[in-house]
Amino acid sequence: MSLFQGLGFAPVIEVFDLNRRFYADESPEKVNLGLGAYRNDDGEPWVLPVVHKAEELVVSNRTLNHEYLPICGLPEFRQAATRLALGSESVVIKENRVLSIQTIGGTGSLRLAAEFLKQKLHLDTVLISSLTWDNHSGIFKATGYSQVNEYRYWNPGTKGLDLDGLLADLQNATEKTVVILHTCAHNTTATDPSPQQWKQIVSVLKERKLIPVMDCTYQGLVSGDVDEDAYPLRLLASEGVEFLIAQSFSKNFGLYNERLGNLAIITKDSSTIDEMRSQCEMIIRRIWSNPPHHGARVVATILNDKSLYQEWKDQVKIMADRIKLMRKMLHERLVNLKTPGDWNHVLTQTGMFVYTGMTSPQVKYLTSKFHIYLTKMGRINMCAMTTKNVDYVSKAIHEAVTTQ
Ligand SMILES: Cc1ncc(COP(=O)(O)O)c(C=O)c1O
Repeated sequence: MSLFQGLGFAPVIEVFDLNRRFYADESPEKVNLGLGAYRNDDGEPWVLPVVHKAEELVVSNRTLNHEYLPICGLPEFRQAATRLALGSESVVIKENRVLSIQTIGGTGSLRLAAEFLKQKLHLDTVLISSLTWDNHSGIFKATGYSQVNEYRYWNPGTKGLDLDGLLADLQNATEKTVVILHTCAHNTTATDPSPQQWKQIVSVLKERKLIPVMDCTYQGLVSGDVDEDAYPLRLLASEGVEFLIAQSFSKNFGLYNERLGNLAIITKDSSTIDEMRSQCEMIIRRIWSNPPHHGARVVATILNDKSLYQEWKDQVKIMADRIKLMRKMLHERLVNLKTPGDWNHVLTQTGMFVYTGMTSPQVKYLTSKFHIYLTKMGRINMCAMTTKNVDYVSKAIHEAVTTQ
C-alpha cells in the first residue's frame, strides 16, 4: 500500500473550479463572472499597452542577465512599489522607516507578513473581516495562528458597512492583535469605508495598539486614481502607526501570472530596519529563496519613468472607468426589467466586484440554465461584463430572482 494512500481530497478552490467548469462548457453564451481578473469589452484578458512597451525595453536590454536577485528582490522595484503605496512625499520613506520586500504576488506578501509576525514577534491572534477573500484565514491558519477570528464588516440589512460592529470588535481586541484590512475594493462585499470612517477606524487601531496588515490588491481600480485609493495607507502612516502593507501587482498591472508583490513594513524607528531585513531574509530563504526578475523589471521600468508612469495611470483609469460603465449598464437594465429588490448597490459598491445578494439557488439557476458562472455567495466580477453580454446577464439575473 502506498504511503500516499487515503489522503482524501482537499476542499475545492471555488474560483479555479469555476474557471475549469467554464472552459469545459461549450455553450456560446457562457459568461464567467467568477474569477477576479480584468477583461476588456471583448471579454478578453488585457495586456496593458504600457506593460508591452516596458517588456520590450526589458527584453532588448542586453546588459540584463538571469543571475539571482537579492533575497529581498529588485531594489528599484521595491522602492518604487513602496512609493506608489505611501506617496512620493511620504515622511516614512524620507525617514527611512520602511522595509520593502519583493514577494511572490499579494499572496506571498500576506504569507511573509504572517510568518514574520508569528515567528519573530510571537503573535498568535488575527482578526479578518467577516466575509472576505478566503485566503486571509487560510494563510494565517496555515502559518499556525491559533486564533483566526472575525470582526464585523458587512450589514446584510443595509447592504453596507457595519461600522459600529467593526469599531466595537476592534475596541474589544487585545493589544497586538493582527488585523487584516482591505485598502480599497473590499473583496467580497465591494464596500469600503469612507475617508471619515477610515479616520474612526485608524483611531481605534492606534488607541488599542493593534497591528494592521493592509491588503492592497486593487489600488487604482476603485476611483481610477492610484493616490486616492491609497488614502488609508497614507492616513495610517501620518498617524504614526506601525503597520504592514501587502501589495499585489496582479490586477492593476495585469501581471497575474508573473506573481509580483511587495511587502512594506512601517516602523517607528529606522534603527530597527536592518534587523527586520535580516530576519525577513532568513524566512524567505527557507520558502522561495529569491524572487523572479521579469515582473519586477517591468513594473520598475514603468514606475521609475515619468512618461511611462503617466501612461500606466491612464490605463488604470481606463480599467476603472470600464468597470463603472458596466455597473451603470447592469443597474439600468435591472431597474428597467423591474427585477424585485433594490439594486442601487450595483452602482454604489466599489472595485471589481458586486456583492449581489443573490441566494445560492439563484446562483445555481444562473449556471444551469444560462451558463453564467459566479461564486456561491453571489459575488460577480464586473469586468467580465461587456456591452455585448450585459443584456443577456441582466435578463438571466431577472429570471433567477423572479423564479427562484
Ligand atoms: C483581497 C485579495 N488579496 C490578495 C490577493 C492575491 O493576489 P495575488 O494574485 O497577487 O497573489 C487577491 C487576489 O485575488 C485578493 O482578492
